[in-house]
Amino acid sequence: MSIKRETAGSRKRYWKCPVESDEMKRRALRAGTEGLANLYEQVTFDEVHRQVLHLIPVEPARVLEIGAGAGRDAAALSARGHTVVAVEPSDEFRGIGQRVHAGHRIQWVNDKLPELGTVARLNRPFQLIMLTAVWMFLHGGERDRAVSRIQELLSEGGRLGVVLRIGPVPYLRRRLYLSPPLEGSA
Ligand SMILES: C[S@@+](CC[C@H](N)C(=O)[O-])C[C@H]1O[C@@H](n2cnc3c(N)ncnc32)[C@H](O)[C@@H]1O
Repeated sequence: MSIKRETAGSRKRYWKCPVESDEMKRRALRAGTEGLANLYEQVTFDEVHRQVLHLIPVEPARVLEIGAGAGRDAAALSARGHTVVAVEPSDEFRGIGQRVHAGHRIQWVNDKLPELGTVARLNRPFQLIMLTAVWMFLHGGERDRAVSRIQELLSEGGRLGVVLRIGPVPYLRRRLYLSPPLEGSA
C-alpha cells in the first residue's frame, strides 16, 4: 500500500494546544492521571483537529484511536457515527475514559504500539487511524515497527491522522506512562 501524505499546512500554522501551557501541565502532573485526563478533556476534538477536520470521513467508518487517553477523540468520533476502537495501555486512563464517556459506544482495548497484538486480532481494516500526542512515547526502532503495524491495519485508501509534538520531549514525560512508579509523580 502506498501512503499519500497530507499535512495541516506550513509550520507557521501549527496550533499550540492549551494543554501545552506550562502552568497547566505542572498542575495536572501534580494531580496525577486524573489531573492529566482533566487537562486532555478541556479541549475539544474540533479544536485539536481543526486543521484536518475536512479529512475526517463523513460516512460511518471503522476508526482506530491509538493512545486514546481519557477518550476525548474516541467519544467525538463515536458521536459522528463512527465505530470506534480506543487503544489505551494505561489502566487508569482507560478507566477514566470508560467512566467519563460511558454514554458513547467505544470499544476500549488494553494494547500498545508497536505490536498492537490484540488489535491485530480484531475485525479490520480501519478506514481512519488516529495517533494524537503519542508518537513521542516511541523510540526509533519501535517507530519503524509501529508504521508497519499501522499500515497492516489501515484499509486501502484509509487515512492516518498523526498529531506530533514539535520540539524536545521532556525526559519525565517520555517515561511517564512506561514505568508505573513514575506515573503522576513528576
Ligand atoms: C499525551 S497522552 C494523549 C492522549 C490523547 N490522545 C489525547 O490527545 O488526549 C498520550 C497517550 O498515549 C498513551 N501511550 C503511551 N505509550 C503508548 C504506546 N506505546 N501505545 C499506545 N498508547 C501509548 C498514553 O498512555 C497516553 O494515554
